[in-house]
Amino acid sequence: MKNKAKASLRLVHRKLLRWYETSGRPLPWRKTRNPYKILVSEIMLQQTQVSRVLQHYPRFIKKYPNFHSLSRVGVAEVLRAWRGLGYNNRAVRLLNLARTVDGLHEGILPRSIEHLRSLPGIGHYTAHAIACFAFGAKVPVVETNIGRVLARLFPSRQNVWETAGRILPPRRVFEWNQGLMDLGALICTPHLPDCGHCPLRDLCPTAHRVVRPAMKKRKEPGRNGIPNRIYRGKIIEVLRNRNGRGSIAAERLGSLIKPDFSVRDRIWLRGLLRSLEKDGLVRVGRWRGGVSVSFP
Ligand code: ADE
Repeated sequence: MKNKAKASLRLVHRKLLRWYETSGRPLPWRKTRNPYKILVSEIMLQQTQVSRVLQHYPRFIKKYPNFHSLSRVGVAEVLRAWRGLGYNNRAVRLLNLARTVDGLHEGILPRSIEHLRSLPGIGHYTAHAIACFAFGAKVPVVETNIGRVLARLFPSRQNVWETAGRILPPRRVFEWNQGLMDLGALICTPHLPDCGHCPLRDLCPTAHRVVRPAMKKRKEPGRNGIPNRIYRGKIIEVLRNRNGRGSIAAERLGSLIKPDFSVRDRIWLRGLLRSLEKDGLVRVGRWRGGVSVSFP
């Protein structure tokens, strides 16, 4: 890197870290270095907004304060504790992970990225997030917010993970990564970035320009204009509310999640149930010549 670029990068570090000190969000998972608590927060944050995670995270951590306590419960119970967070298969993934860590690793998460990645349910992003936020590793972390910030700040760079690795500051990498996330969430937002308040506006080549046209959303598979994702959530909600009353006939389940359920919806419902079964969220059995559904 040329001297001028180095000096400019140092300025980026200084300005962002200073901004984070005064404007970063005081989120509970930033006050801990406990790997379990950080893992839970990262899995919740993968597909759920911060404001919603804030409503559920403290209760979940209180109920299951470590891998051991979580590893002892069943799928039905963890799905009840996950209520309100959505994308329920994350709860089952977290449970499987807790069982693996409790069984094979004495309840202690490994520190290295390679080792973390070998665990079920931990991918590239989560391994980096745990290594940095729990173990203080000087490694990049790229989720959607950071990806967007870096694409705007370094528009000629192709590989965002590689870019994130090259521009890490020499110190305070935890604050750097969290600060980039906050900048993306609060200022450098997808559609109308607030460049006037950005601490990096004088250093950003795309400041005050419209970058990236809004992407067209890919159409989700669904039924009657409602995504299957929503119906999957409804199925889990019906089972949660049965409070131990065991299995339910598929036909009855169909009419509870879709008021106009008819024979024409049967094959579609079977498909949904198969996908939920594959993810370990439900068990599908036989019942009086029909199909019954319960938690595993
Ligand atoms: N999204 C993913 N990880 C996050 C974190 N640690 N803080 C805020 N938002 C996040």
